[in-house]
Amino acid sequence: MKIVRTIAELRQHLSAYKHPAFVPTMGNLHEGHLALVRQAKPLGDVLVVSIFVNRLQFLPHEDFDTYPRTWETDCQSLQGAGCDVLFAPSEQELYPEPQTFLVQPPPALADILEGHFRPGFFVGVSTVVMKLFACVQPRVAVFGQKDYQQLMVIRGMVRQFALPIAVLGVATLRAADGLALSSRNNYLTPLERAEAVHLSQSLQQMAQALRAGTLDIAALEQQAMVDLTARGWQPDYLAARRRADLQVPAADEVAALVQNDGLVLLGAARLGNTRLIDNLEV
Ligand code: PAF
Repeated sequence: MKIVRTIAELRQHLSAYKHPAFVPTMGNLHEGHLALVRQAKPLGDVLVVSIFVNRLQFLPHEDFDTYPRTWETDCQSLQGAGCDVLFAPSEQELYPEPQTFLVQPPPALADILEGHFRPGFFVGVSTVVMKLFACVQPRVAVFGQKDYQQLMVIRGMVRQFALPIAVLGVATLRAADGLALSSRNNYLTPLERAEAVHLSQSLQQMAQALRAGTLDIAALEQQAMVDLTARGWQPDYLAARRRADLQVPAADEVAALVQNDGLVLLGAARLGNTRLIDNLEV
């Protein structure tokens, strides 16, 4: 595995290839990331993974400074998973001057749910992904479905800018109890870790209720919020949305959406100091 720190070196190295496959990450890799890497491996003639903790997508009070940097183990894991080129630029390399040109995703998609609770998050994500795409020039890029809204934002960006990149979403990997794998799970205390699965269980319960014919979405969301709060969580949202555009479905379309695989349930909630997200397609 070749480790590359600069854009010039990356371009030089990749000039020998026609069809790079790419997995962008912020490091602190777990099995979920490695599943993306393994899926990406056969899709190109060279596999590039990036590690870059992107300041632009963190709010001032968020965990940018404390976000775990686990360089040695990340390198070992990537080597084992078949990564050919690890692109790990410094901030100075990727943002040599303040990044004042930004990619602005549409508010209807990017200012709701995660974007509502983390203003500017998707501007930061879109901007860095656009820049990483410009550096790597991949033909295929792989993202996790755990960040469901992020995947939709990236797909929209690629479509509207006509970027010649196929975007592949990979199903969320889960621990044995059902907790979605996440870098932030490491923050959980043992007690919190035991409780953490209740976010995905809340989504499962909402899905069961919808399939059983309870179609009042607002009431279902409210009940799920109340239940999680009673367990000691601070939920930001538990929401049933149209898969196509993440908008709130009209009351008279819910039944058809449930029948035709048209809904997705999304949740974000804080347990102690750790904010977890999850989603479930219905
Ligand atoms: O999903 C992530 O880890 C990040 O948002 C990404 C896509 C690497 C951009 O920084």
